[in-house]
Amino acid sequence: MEKYFSPSFSFFLFFTNLLLVILLHLPTSLPITSLVPKCHEDDRSALLEFKESFRYPITSYTSRYFQTTSHKVKLEPWKLDSCGMLEGGEGNYCTWDGVQCDAESGHVIGLDICCTGLHASINSSSRGFLRLVHLRKLNLAYTNLDRSPIPYAIGNLPGLTSLNLSNCELAGQIPELILSLTSLSTLDLSYNDGLELVKPSLEDLALRLTKLEILDLSNVNIPSALPYAITSSPSLTSLTLAECGLEGRLPPSVFSLPNLQVLDIYGNDLSGELPTSVSNLTELILLDLSYNRFQGRIPRFSDTPQLRFLNLRNNMFTGAIPSSLRNVSKLEYLSLANNHLTGQIPSQIANLGQLTILDLSCNMLSGEVLLHKFLELKNLETLHIGYNDLSVLTSYNTTTTSHPSKLLAVSLAHCNLREFPKLLLSLQRLSVLGLSSNKIQGEVPMWFQNVSRQSLVYLKLSNNSLTGFEGNPVNLKWANLAYLDLSFNKLQGPLPAPPDSISIYLASNNRFSGDIPPLLCSMEFIEMLDLAHNNFSGVIPRCFSNLTRTLDFLSLNNNNLQGEILQVPGKNCSVRVLDLHSNQLQGKLPRSLSNCTGLEFLNVGNNMINDTFPSWLGTSTNLRALVLRSNRFHGSIEEPETNSEFQSLQIIDISSNDFEDFLPAKYFRYWTSMRESITEGQKYFHVVNTIRTSHRVFGNQSLMDIVALAGLTVETKGMEVKYAEILGYLQAIDFSGNNFRGEIPESIADLKGLRSLNFSDNNLSGPIPPTLGGMTNLESLDLSGNGLSGEIPQQLSQLYFLEFFNVSNNRLSGPIPQGRQFYTFKNTSYEGNERLCGVPLSRACDSGAASSPSYSRNQKGDSGTGVQLGWKGSLVGYAVGFISASVIGHRMMTSELDWFSNAVAFVEQRKWW
Ligand SMILES: *[C@@H]1O[C@H](CO)[C@@H](O)[C@H](O)[C@H]1NC(C)=O
Ligand SMILES: *[C@@H]1O[C@H](CO)[C@@H](O)[C@H](O)[C@H]1NC(C)=O
Ligand SMILES: *[C@@H]1O[C@H](CO)[C@@H](O)[C@H](O)[C@H]1NC(C)=O
Ligand SMILES: *[C@@H]1O[C@H](CO)[C@@H](O)[C@H](O)[C@H]1NC(C)=O
Ligand SMILES: *[C@@H]1O[C@H](CO)[C@@H](O)[C@H](O)[C@H]1NC(C)=O
Ligand SMILES: *[C@@H]1O[C@H](CO)[C@@H](O)[C@H](O)[C@H]1NC(C)=O
Ligand SMILES: *[C@@H]1O[C@H](CO)[C@@H](O)[C@H](O)[C@H]1NC(C)=O
Repeated sequence: MEKYFSPSFSFFLFFTNLLLVILLHLPTSLPITSLVPKCHEDDRSALLEFKESFRYPITSYTSRYFQTTSHKVKLEPWKLDSCGMLEGGEGNYCTWDGVQCDAESGHVIGLDICCTGLHASINSSSRGFLRLVHLRKLNLAYTNLDRSPIPYAIGNLPGLTSLNLSNCELAGQIPELILSLTSLSTLDLSYNDGLELVKPSLEDLALRLTKLEILDLSNVNIPSALPYAITSSPSLTSLTLAECGLEGRLPPSVFSLPNLQVLDIYGNDLSGELPTSVSNLTELILLDLSYNRFQGRIPRFSDTPQLRFLNLRNNMFTGAIPSSLRNVSKLEYLSLANNHLTGQIPSQIANLGQLTILDLSCNMLSGEVLLHKFLELKNLETLHIGYNDLSVLTSYNTTTTSHPSKLLAVSLAHCNLREFPKLLLSLQRLSVLGLSSNKIQGEVPMWFQNVSRQSLVYLKLSNNSLTGFEGNPVNLKWANLAYLDLSFNKLQGPLPAPPDSISIYLASNNRFSGDIPPLLCSMEFIEMLDLAHNNFSGVIPRCFSNLTRTLDFLSLNNNNLQGEILQVPGKNCSVRVLDLHSNQLQGKLPRSLSNCTGLEFLNVGNNMINDTFPSWLGTSTNLRALVLRSNRFHGSIEEPETNSEFQSLQIIDISSNDFEDFLPAKYFRYWTSMRESITEGQKYFHVVNTIRTSHRVFGNQSLMDIVALAGLTVETKGMEVKYAEILGYLQAIDFSGNNFRGEIPESIADLKGLRSLNFSDNNLSGPIPPTLGGMTNLESLDLSGNGLSGEIPQQLSQLYFLEFFNVSNNRLSGPIPQGRQFYTFKNTSYEGNERLCGVPLSRACDSGAASSPSYSRNQKGDSGTGVQLGWKGSLVGYAVGFISASVIGHRMMTSELDWFSNAVAFVEQRKWW
């Protein structure tokens, strides 16, 4: 399951790291007793064998779940030829890093090789640690075990009290023999997404391992309900079963576990109402039920002096926020986001003096909210109440603050704000501020331009009605800003320059005019720049060439820019998305673009570029979309030089140019990325894999995440679509409006992933190849305005997803295919072909030629394709298609939430690491 960093997650990170820090400062080696430990040959050789199973060289391990590298065991010094040589002296294995011995017997009782990130083998022929029969504690977390199963020989270690194999890339069924480890009090097999717990089951585990105190099986596949038997482990203090595929309801008894302090089952499929016993938890410190399908009301909370972390986000809870929350007076984290909660925010929340993170966003909460009330929460660092039906009142007298606010992150998106909240003046430490989708009008006042001048890192002001910045500053004053979103306002005049620290600057869909200020060239960290849909004129500043070293994403489309496209100096070009369409750019496509090896999306449509087909881009192995439409491209498309040209291409639109000669039949053979449709799974695989990470601002995130986060869109045919969505959904060819001649090559039919094929308005002749009937993903086929002859192949009736079909103005003859989709096409699809006959034309075919319809009209409704059509139909008839507006609306909302979560997570990381 793909999940963005959530506040809950960063909170965990914070705790685990705090723990780590504490642990690191404790004395790590055992007290050296006067007794020199004995050396045991068996233990020595087992350790060395274990060391041998690690594969060098050391490659750094990166995981979004674990980012610190401070705690690394050093295996290199593990050397000892024999016990005899160094009996008891310096170099005894008991002194090796990560090894713990029993002070008396000298046997190895603890092995902590956590976090090396190395690959190691634990297969049957390299047993290593499995021979250390006296082991009590074993921690191999973050060792890459190459998707091997947990060895049966784990049963050789009956004395184990603690086993930690988290994040080890283990796979397969958890072996039965694990049930023989009855002394286990800690078992952590989390985040091995190939592991399964079916036989033995979670129930078996609960019944047999009765001494368990800490159990973490997150991300292990456990396709069952949470068993009642879980209550047979009365010693359990911490139960973590996040993202396990658990289903069904929660057994009420889980809340009767007398010692339970942590219950984390986020991201499962558990449903139903919460048992009332939840209010009885006197020991619970952390309760995370987020990302499930729980419904009904949030139960009453009785007086628990303990609960500090409560996460119920992304469920289906209804009703009001219970005022009994005031009883949970130690609460530090509270998220009820993304439910269906109604009513007002209870005033009792102000009693939760320990609250650090409060997220009530995305519900249906209503009523007036006095923003300054939240300032009474002295410890509050994160506040998110956006996307409700609240009216947030901001009138506030700053002189009444009794204590400095700790607020770091505030989102008031979609809160009916009509002005900048004055209260912000009292926030000295603010790093993240979201005020998007409000009704703020006029200029950004001077006082606001001075808010949190040093601390602000993320600022989102998009979707308001701002017209300018008071005082017309050339430079904005926030000294450490990394993210600025001003898009979708009415900002006019010259573009203000952000500080040099900026990484993402989004200012599209405004009324900025004049030249693009060369001041932008000092943005040495810039990764995304979006100035689309403004009135910028003049040329692209020459210094922008230098920005291509850091720029991932540059969008200047829909302006009035002139002159040539920017050159790329040298090989260090990091541009992945370059969108310059709908300007008045001239000259040729700069050949130096071939040095942008990561280029994925190039759109220079609607300009005045005078060039030949850029076959030199064929070697760009990442190029997925090439849009050259409506320019002055000309000449014939020559045969490709190698057999791997444009191998990643999904979308090519060279329409409305002056290309001539034959269609490039050979190229069609090499466009392997169009051969299969993109499935949901591949979609992520594709995007996540091709993409370099945007290191500075967002850590290990994919372009998909970043684009979603930034809410960047591309406009086609009046519809806005996210870049990532286009690349995630669409495979299309548009060669329309050129002078191609000759026949449609059969090789086109190999591109079975295509959803849209447009060869209209050329001089093509000959027949329509019957093999087009095998392009089963086609939703749109336009061959109109050519000189095609012969019959329309009956095979085309197999195109079940075809929503748009146009063969008008050709020289086609004979019967129109009948059945399925062909019942939906109108006369206009066929007009201008004198000799076509059959439905829907009034010209009947003579009985000999008529094809017999294979399906009656009645059958169409229950043909089983209806649902898919409804969804897929949104792409119909467009070259570079679009997704329906409702989908976009939904995505905009979720990406707004993700934006905030990501920003907060980032700030938290910076804060604690
Ligand atoms: C087990 O691991 C060792 C050491 O990495 C390797 O040489 C051997 O091929 C592996 N055996 C099997 C059966 O995978
Ligand atoms: C397992 O080890 C990892 C890495 O040291 C640690 O973060 C995690 O908390 C450990 N699990 C348990 C249950 O202690
Ligand atoms: C709460 O706990 C007490 C004592 O364990 C028990 O008697 C009572 O039935 C529980 N209440 C609920 C609602 O589970
Ligand atoms: C703000 O509060 C101070 C002290 O309570 C008071 O003197 C002042 O008049 C208030 N200002 C406004 C604008 O309400
Ligand atoms: C690009 O950067 C180089 C080195 O920093 C500098 O010398 C050059 O003037 C810059 N080019 C432009 C057009 O700004
Ligand atoms: C790519 O960069 C290299 C190194 O600066 C340069 O020599 C080469 O000419 C560039 N390629 C093109 C096509 O500009
Ligand atoms: C394209 O450029 C060539 C010279 O390079 C010129 O002869 C031709 O007229 C130009 N075509 C158009 C449409 O501007």
